Amino acid sequence: MSVKPVNVCVIGCGSMGRNHVRVLSDLPGVELRAIVDANTQVTAHLAHRYRVPAYPTLEAMLAEVTPEAAVVAVPTVEHLRIASALIERGVHVLVEKPIAASVAEARELIARAEARGVALFVGHIERFNPAVLELRRRLSAGELGRVLHVEARRQGPFPARIQDVGVIVDLAVHDIDLLRFVTGSEIERVYAETTQRLHHAHEDMVRATLRLADGVVGSLAIDWLTPTKVRELTVTGERGMFQVNLLTQDLTWFENAAAEEDRDDDIALLRGVQEGRMIRHVVKKREPLVAELEAFIRFIHDRAADRVSGEDGTAAIRVAQAMLESSRSGLVVRL
Ligand SMILES: NC(=O)c1ccc[n+]([C@@H]2O[C@H](COP(=O)([O-])OP(=O)(O)OC[C@H]3O[C@@H](n4cnc5c(N)ncnc54)[C@H](O)[C@@H]3O)[C@@H](O)[C@H]2O)c1
Repeated sequence: MSVKPVNVCVIGCGSMGRNHVRVLSDLPGVELRAIVDANTQVTAHLAHRYRVPAYPTLEAMLAEVTPEAAVVAVPTVEHLRIASALIERGVHVLVEKPIAASVAEARELIARAEARGVALFVGHIERFNPAVLELRRRLSAGELGRVLHVEARRQGPFPARIQDVGVIVDLAVHDIDLLRFVTGSEIERVYAETTQRLHHAHEDMVRATLRLADGVVGSLAIDWLTPTKVRELTVTGERGMFQVNLLTQDLTWFENAAAEEDRDDDIALLRGVQEGRMIRHVVKKREPLVAELEAFIRFIHDRAADRVSGEDGTAAIRVAQAMLESSRSGLVVRL
C-alpha cells in the first residue's frame, strides 16, 4: 500500500534547521514543500541546493502554502509563537528541543496541539542515537543488574550564536531527557552550581547532582567552556559499567569481575568490584536525525507509534528550571 507523501516545511534554517532541510529533502514518504528563515541569505542558498521555495517569514509562507507538517527550529524563545501559529492552521509540529523556554510555555503548546488534534513531537535527538538505543536494550535485558549511577558529560567551546538561553536550557535538557529515557525513572531532586564567564546573559557552565525516583544518582557536567567537544554517557551498575560516546556512537562495556562470579546469586547483593573484561559492542551507526524524522512521520500516520511527547519535553524543561533555581538559591530543589 503506498501512502501519499507528507508535505513538510522547515521554519528556522540555522545550524540545526539546515540539517532538517537536508534530511527531509531525501526522506522517503516526505515532500519538502517550503523553508522559512528571517535570514534570506541562508534560505537563498538552501532553496537553490534543494530546489524548494523559500520565505522570509512564517506568515509569508502560510499565505501561499499550508503544509501538513512542520519542523520548528527557530531559537528556543520563539518556539511557542511559531509552533502555535502552525498548530492553529492544523499543521503537525516537530519542535526542536527544548520544547519551549519554560514549563508554562510547554504546557500551553501541548494544550493547543490537543485542542486542534495535531501531532506534537519534540526533537530530543539523543533518543535516536543507535548507541543509546543499544544501551537501553541491554539495560532492559538486565545486563547491568541494578543501575546505581548515570553520568553525562556534554562539553565544548562557546557557540556565540546562542543568545536567548544558557547552557542549562540549551544543552542540559538533552541529558536530563537521557537520564529519564535510559532509566525509565523520574527526577525527584536536583542541586546545581553554575558559572557565567562568556555568555552575556546566562550561565555557560553547570555541574549538577540529581536523584531519581528509583534511587539512581545522576551527575551532569555540561558547559561551553571546554576546548574540545565531549558527548559522553556512563551508566554504572552492579555488574559493571556501560560507556557511550554519543559522537562516535560507540558503546563500551566494563565488566565488574566480582559480580560475574556471583552471577547466580541475588543481584541485590553487591559483594565487591573488580576490574574485568572490556568489550566494545558493535552498534550499527546511523544518523539520529534521520531516525527522529522517520519517527515523526510514522507518528503522523499512526498515533499509536512511539514519539517524544510534549510531556517528555515538559519534564526536561521542568528539571532545567529546577537546576536554574537551585543555582540561584544554593539549595536542593525538589520536583
Ligand atoms: N537537537 C539538537 O541536537 C539541536 C542542536 C542545535 C540546536 N537545536 C535547537 O534548534 C533551535 C535552533 O537552534 P540553532 O542552533 O539552529 O540556532 P541558529 O541561531 O543557528 O538558527 C536559528 C535560525 O532561525 C532563524 N529565525 C529566528 N527567528 C525566526 C523567525 N521568527 N522566523 C523565521 N526564522 C527565524 C534565524 O535567522 C536562524 O537562521 C533551538 O531551539 C535549539 O535548541 C537542537
